[in-house]
Amino acid sequence: MKRERVDIALGERSYPILIGEGLLSDENLLGSSIKARHLLIVTNTTVGPLYADALKHALKDRRISEVALPDGEQHKTLATIGRIIDSLVEARMNRDAAVVALGGGVIGDMAGFAAACYQRGIDYIQVPTTLLAQVDSSVGGKTGVNHPKAKNMIGAFHQPRCVIADIDTLKTLSDREYRAGLAEIVKYGLIYDRDFFDWLESNAVVLAAREPSAIIYAVRRSCEIKAEVVAKDEREHGIRAWLNLGHTFGHAIETASGYGNWLHGEAVAAGMVMAADMSTRLGWLGAADRDRTVQLLTKFGLPTVPPKIGANEALVLMGMDKKVLDGQVRLVLLRALGRADVVGDYPKPTLDATLQHYFG
Ligand code: NAD
Ligand code: GLY
Repeated sequence: MKRERVDIALGERSYPILIGEGLLSDENLLGSSIKARHLLIVTNTTVGPLYADALKHALKDRRISEVALPDGEQHKTLATIGRIIDSLVEARMNRDAAVVALGGGVIGDMAGFAAACYQRGIDYIQVPTTLLAQVDSSVGGKTGVNHPKAKNMIGAFHQPRCVIADIDTLKTLSDREYRAGLAEIVKYGLIYDRDFFDWLESNAVVLAAREPSAIIYAVRRSCEIKAEVVAKDEREHGIRAWLNLGHTFGHAIETASGYGNWLHGEAVAAGMVMAADMSTRLGWLGAADRDRTVQLLTKFGLPTVPPKIGANEALVLMGMDKKVLDGQVRLVLLRALGRADVVGDYPKPTLDATLQHYFG
């Protein structure tokens, strides 16, 4: 069975990302990757019944508790963090305990945040079970929850001890969720690696059909890019913001439509089209490359047109973005296919025209 390892280099907080098939049934691998003797598995009512037993079986020499949270982005709240903390207290977990996040990005973000807060920080391990979580949210240490009026507004940087991405878990993932993960994969090609974008175009059919070796390559290349970016700029003072291509528009879509109605990856797909189009309006990205972006996302069955939430409402929501500095909305745009930039001094009429065109 094919296995890959990508290392994320952050000094004493460095950790491996293990990618491949059959990882959750590999007792040796799990036993050596997860050091803590006392574990809380944080999962949800969908993923827990599918995979928690495998994890418990492989780690049967540990003392393990489990909390299964309600499923959905609408539960990514401070109230749910309270439930995880309650479970840690009830299981009398000490500083040498660890949290195991078993699920998609919602579980990973919440379990990581609870681990960051509990006793001022305990270890956690990411076991991502969605494509989106395997290529993005489980890596890099951003944890947190939503505020009712602003996505991912409350959180902490807290790096996991390791990431175990078993691609076999994707077999039970719905097509819609799988496609949402493909959006973040396209993002890496757009912001960082034109060759990877070309590879995605050439392999779109096999990747959409979930061919394991295509998935493993796409997850590995995505994690390599994310690892490189995070190692250069862990706390997002510069280049890490590139990973937010399409997210400022996308977060406005997610918030305006009610959390969970547009999946995060779907909103990012439509947001990336808007970012590409604005980059073309500015004369940076050729129209042909913008059109290739739309075509690739379409091939992956992703939305390329956002809902008509209104340009004014979108601008208000975008004003809550974490990249806002001195009251100015900074945007991640494309200087070219494969090269992003964070821009604050774009001509305001170009943003207005883009918002009018897409949001109405
Ligand atoms: P998700 O966690 O809601 O999972 C999607 C759905 O798939 C859920 O219903 C879940 O229960 C189900 N599921 C998960 N694994 C499954 C499996 N193997 N089989 C069957 N069903 C399964 O959504 P997501 O797309 O994984 O993550 C989105 C979240 O990640 C958003 O909240 C977003 O803000 C966050 N995010 C965080 C970062 C970061 O750097 N921390 C990066 C990107 C996204
Ligand atoms: N997904 C954005 C980041 O990790 O920085």
